[in-house]
Amino acid sequence: MEYVSLGRTGLRVGVAGLGCGGFSRLGLGTGRSTAEAVALIREALDIGVNLLDTAAAYGTEEIVGEAVGQVRREDVVIATKAWIPRGDGRHMAERAVAGLEASLRRLGTDYVDIFQLHGVMPAAYEQVREVVAPALLKERDKGKLRHLGVTEAASEDPEHEMLRRAVEDEVWEVVMVAFHMMHQNARATVFPRTIANRVGTLLMFAVRNIFSRPERLTTALRELTQRRELPRWLADAPNPLGFLLHAAGAQTVTEAAYRFARHEPGVDVVLFGTGDPEHLKANIAALLAPPLPLADRLTLTKLFGRLSGVGLDPPYAMPGIGSV
Ligand SMILES: NC(=O)c1ccc[n+]([C@@H]2O[C@H](COP(=O)([O-])OP(=O)(O)OC[C@H]3O[C@@H](n4cnc5c(N)ncnc54)[C@H](OP(=O)(O)O)[C@@H]3O)[C@@H](O)[C@H]2O)c1
Repeated sequence: MEYVSLGRTGLRVGVAGLGCGGFSRLGLGTGRSTAEAVALIREALDIGVNLLDTAAAYGTEEIVGEAVGQVRREDVVIATKAWIPRGDGRHMAERAVAGLEASLRRLGTDYVDIFQLHGVMPAAYEQVREVVAPALLKERDKGKLRHLGVTEAASEDPEHEMLRRAVEDEVWEVVMVAFHMMHQNARATVFPRTIANRVGTLLMFAVRNIFSRPERLTTALRELTQRRELPRWLADAPNPLGFLLHAAGAQTVTEAAYRFARHEPGVDVVLFGTGDPEHLKANIAALLAPPLPLADRLTLTKLFGRLSGVGLDPPYAMPGIGSV
């Protein structure tokens, strides 16, 4: 594993972080058992992954707690999240603190390293910053969390409106941002500011469905070419991303997607979600591989650099929340 500093948190984290949500939810979403999920986390830890990203909404906090029970607490960075529906500010703050307490219980730990507000919409941001964050900072002072973070509701906020404000506010030490081969707009609007302000970045959606399910890519390309946002040949090509697969490049589209995300300046950790031990190993290898060849990166930027909001499928239908 390669380790990097996560913004100004002082944490050293592996560049490959295990996402415990998404469609896979450590395999629970694809029919695997909790015992397999625990084993998958332990395998990741053995390979050197030290950051695990979970959330109350994923139903995987107990599994994370069980899996890390065998390692020294200081050797693992646990990130979790609370989703707070909009309401009056005081109620939101109370709910966030109660959410933190509940997460600590499920995780079986007395502190979380990164506590994130989950899928914050632009319209809720000011209340979250003014009322919820101060309440959580009091919990930080009691030692119940180490660093505060915020994650965007990607499908509903594809232009990163919320994060563009959050990265300027000192209270957030970590942000979670969507970025991938066909949704590159964080390069211009988010990463320059996270770098300047030393905000740690966790990247989501590197692969999701669009690069793991060929039929999902086909549908997206058909829609984009119909809207004339992409050249027609992409929708007609039997293997539209085949130009990435060659001896000096990537061997699979998922490998290309993880390598593309990993080497973007401003990206600290790429979260990958899986329940499959073979995917676990392949994804870590991809995240540790060199950047894609320059010509391939230029082609990806030329073809897809202006797209926004592609492939940000939300797995959970929660009122008022986007892709979590
Ligand atoms: N708003 C938010 O806060 C938010 C939103 C989205 C995500 N997240 C976080 O980001 C994490 C990562 O997002 P994600 O789950 O969408 O992860 P991802 O890594 O972008 O995509 C994972 C999907 O691709 C499949 N896959 C993984 N490796 C593969 C491979 N080598 N070959 C073929 N298929 C592969 C997985 O299924 P298999 O199980 O079959 O491998 C899964 O369905 C989440 O777990 C969560 O922690 C947060």
